[in-house]
Amino acid sequence: MERRINKAKLPYLKRIEDFDFAFQTSVSERRIKEIMTCRFIDNGDNILLLGPPGVGKTHLAIGIALEALNKGYTAHYTRCDDFITMCKKADERNTTSRLVNKLSKFNVLVLDEMGYFPFDELSANLLFQIISKRYEEGSIIITSNKSYIEWGKIFGDDVLATAVLDRLLHHSTTFNMKGESYRLKEKQKAGIQPIVAK
Ligand SMILES: Nc1ncnc2c1ncn2[C@@H]1O[C@H](COP(=O)(O)OP(=O)(O)OP(=O)(O)O)[C@@H](O)[C@H]1O
Ligand SMILES: [Mg+2]
Repeated sequence: MERRINKAKLPYLKRIEDFDFAFQTSVSERRIKEIMTCRFIDNGDNILLLGPPGVGKTHLAIGIALEALNKGYTAHYTRCDDFITMCKKADERNTTSRLVNKLSKFNVLVLDEMGYFPFDELSANLLFQIISKRYEEGSIIITSNKSYIEWGKIFGDDVLATAVLDRLLHHSTTFNMKGESYRLKEKQKAGIQPIVAK
């Protein structure tokens, strides 16, 4: 378990038990409980968590990955900007196929923060290869602040974005998360007023 957690490279350990569903009412606790059975992994289903900053996308993604690890599956976490850097390095070293194989073999691949940074042609291509390889075999959990319509901009290519989404969404569950940022709520509780743009 420890070895698998280390390999998963989770940025921090957040459990679903620590998630306040009373605060985040746009996510159904029942659907998350169903996901916690990890049947989605056996079915090769993907999970997409969409929404603005601070609504709990990363928390849920990590919590689900932790439960998968707990049940004996392998998982791997990467932020999209790190993935883009990894692709560049792999290209310089001529090891892109090794990177694609590595990221294709985990039962669960978490791609966090899709959309904060645009993908260049190389990383968009390698991501497409990974998604194609994993299609109907492994599960991918993606978090994004962008709606599907805006994904063309992330990849700089509408055709590629459509092909990626077509594969991702074929067997998938999407959570459209809404509401206030939990980070702001904690700040307000501590008496720090948010800066309001004028
Ligand atoms: N409903 C919740 N219950 C408990 N903690 C929460 C909840 N929502 C968010 N948090 C906590 O608030 C912080 C921000 O949440 P998180 O990182 O998951 O947001 P995010 O949606 O991924 O935002 P971003 O788009 O900026 O990455 C984390 O520490 C997380 O654990
Ligand atoms: Mg996040």
